[in-house]
Amino acid sequence: MRVAVAGGTGLVGAKVADRLRAQGHEAVVLTRGEGVDLTTGSGLAAALAGVDAIIDATSLESTKPADTVAFFSAVAGHLQREGAAAGVRRIVTLSIVGIDGLGGGPFGHYDGKRAQEETTEAGEVPTAILRATQFHGFAGQLIDWMAKGPLLPCPTQPVQTVDVDAVADELVALALESPADQHVRKDVAGPDKRLLADLARAIATARGRRLWVLPVWLPGDTARRVRQGILQAPPAAKIIGGTFEEWLAREYPVG
Ligand SMILES: NC(=O)c1ccc[n+]([C@@H]2O[C@H](COP(=O)([O-])OP(=O)(O)OC[C@H]3O[C@@H](n4cnc5c(N)ncnc54)[C@H](OP(=O)(O)O)[C@@H]3O)[C@@H](O)[C@H]2O)c1
Repeated sequence: MRVAVAGGTGLVGAKVADRLRAQGHEAVVLTRGEGVDLTTGSGLAAALAGVDAIIDATSLESTKPADTVAFFSAVAGHLQREGAAAGVRRIVTLSIVGIDGLGGGPFGHYDGKRAQEETTEAGEVPTAILRATQFHGFAGQLIDWMAKGPLLPCPTQPVQTVDVDAVADELVALALESPADQHVRKDVAGPDKRLLADLARAIATARGRRLWVLPVWLPGDTARRVRQGILQAPPAAKIIGGTFEEWLAREYPVG
């Protein structure tokens, strides 16, 4: 099968493209480096020739709500319009568990993700939205973004992180199956409920970095709902992949 991977050079997208190729499928990478700008749609029509399914694993650096909404709406809109024109039979979109009603301030990424979900489901091509919890490495990204010195201010946040490799497997499976329904939604999460600050400490230690992780209470309704565990697995979520410790041992082998 010929499957286009929007964001196919990113953390998730590269794993998805590798898996497709390992299973004998053709992966068409849609990124600016491959001559496709998904915010303008330039280069997309030609890249989608003969494509059966699309997996959207795009992202952007900004967390400003206006930026994220503009980016994800534009990308999802172009994938739907050009996907329909090319006869694509399903668009699979990676989203995030529990984001309904969340956003603003440091949570502005979620505004964009909701806009992405709404835009893709408003299109003609059948959709599958896979909502995943934060990845096991999320606290490491937080360290990279926020800890310039020996201190990491870390939101008080219960999480249920998931192995990104297992998420990539789910995305590929959704792209390859024959869609029976116009819209499919699925939630996935890892096996353990933890605190983000504890994961940050474990990753800092595994990296050999002395870091003082300071849990902080962010103001606002979104931060309150996050503290209450809204980003952990909802009851019907499928539990996938290994534990955080298994991922940590794989990612930071000792010796
Ligand atoms: N981190 C988590 O814990 C987590 C959990 C659940 C879901 N997610 C979701 O996972 C998704 C993927 O995240 P990621 O960390 O894998 O992203 P990433 O590593 O930042 O990669 C982003 C990809 O998007 C492409 N891209 C950006 N702007 C583009 C444009 N204008 N046109 C074409 N391609 C463009 C990039 O390629 P070029 O720059 O080369 O164009 C790159 O391949 C995100 O939407 C996020 O919401 C993340």
